[in-house]
Amino acid sequence: MRMYDVIKKKRDGEALSAEEIRAFIEGYSKGEIPDYQAAALCMAIFFRGMSDEETTELTLAVRDSGERLDTSRIKGLRVDKHSTGGVGDKTSLVVAPIVASLGLTVAKMSGRGLGHTGGTIDKLEAIPGFCTGLAVSEFENIVNETGIAIVGQSATLAPADKMLYALRDVTATVDSMPLIASSIMGKKLAADDDCIVLDVKTGSGSFMKELEDSRTLAKLMVAIGKRAGKRISALITDMDRPLGYAVGNSLEVVEAIEALQGKGPEDLVELSLALASQILFLADKGTLEECRALAEDAITSGKALDTFAKMVKAQGGDPEYIYHPEKFATAPYSREVKVTQSGYIASVDTEKYGLASLLLGAGRNTKEDAIDLTAGYMIQKKTGDYVNAGDTLAVLYTSNASLLDAAERTLLNATTITAEAPEKRPLIFEVI
Ligand code: URA
Repeated sequence: MRMYDVIKKKRDGEALSAEEIRAFIEGYSKGEIPDYQAAALCMAIFFRGMSDEETTELTLAVRDSGERLDTSRIKGLRVDKHSTGGVGDKTSLVVAPIVASLGLTVAKMSGRGLGHTGGTIDKLEAIPGFCTGLAVSEFENIVNETGIAIVGQSATLAPADKMLYALRDVTATVDSMPLIASSIMGKKLAADDDCIVLDVKTGSGSFMKELEDSRTLAKLMVAIGKRAGKRISALITDMDRPLGYAVGNSLEVVEAIEALQGKGPEDLVELSLALASQILFLADKGTLEECRALAEDAITSGKALDTFAKMVKAQGGDPEYIYHPEKFATAPYSREVKVTQSGYIASVDTEKYGLASLLLGAGRNTKEDAIDLTAGYMIQKKTGDYVNAGDTLAVLYTSNASLLDAAERTLLNATTITAEAPEKRPLIFEVI
């Protein structure tokens, strides 16, 4: 099989065979297929799409590109949640400790920032010392000791996704349904979770802007999971505005800690509790109402925060940062972004809001880029709020002062202010 022929076939809109898909994933993971050919194929898939059968084959090939977790070595019922990606979406840092503190096992594989969205792995690396690149045996040991560990894709776990994920991030090939579905479900199947809850975003900050597309993606991933024998459901949730107020890696960790301390922003806490309740429900911990009460208690009792601190310590991080988030370093440069008009914030272009964080240094332009973990911003006014001209919309943070102007412009251009208050959108649209 020549990679050239596979790219051409997809470019011309034909379906790829299982053998062709497997040969691509195997060859790319082994370094036999160069980045430029993989990028060309991703772009062809972006434009031409894939049938459900091709997407399932791609998912299984990603799963099989490395080792699968040896579940006989892991104690307890393995559960997980995964988001399709959003701006300010730090729910994994809240949900995973909640459900682990209630006796479920979280052996989680997450990703770095992708496109305009942030990633759990970059966020966790904002905690001094935290190691996201554990060997499989170490990962298993920590999961067995603490009930929870979160790692990135690696040379052994879903290596094809590690490589494709980084490639898609910098080649404008993220927002493709088959590439998203195979990336997420390939990782989840490699970790061999028993129960999976997907958070499929919809709206301007999501990779799927339209509700119908988000629904199709959710159904596709749920079907792949069910076929693999998983207990799985998906929540379709709003990403037409950032979640919470913090955008940027260390800022988001602090906000997630505040949520675990019982003082997080309403939308973040509400969505985290909904996701945690779904996981507990799939794990047979009671009715949805009972599961919600369990999740709330995990926060109010401090159990979830303690579990997060335990995980941080086990993965080499300093747990003092979890109990004293004021210890996180702040960026040396900041700027208040002021609105120039009075009225209601009617809408924000949330993808551009995500880009503003990247412009401050929180994301990558090339695969090799290092990121500024302190970069990002704290939103002061959100969709639906009334503002007076001169009010602060957000406070920007960065280690490079020359980046402030572009980020400020981007945020202001992405914010629409009108005389009329906007209609409220639901936080959770539906459960699939
Ligand atoms: N999360 C993933 O793991 N992969 C994607 O493609 C999008 C979100």
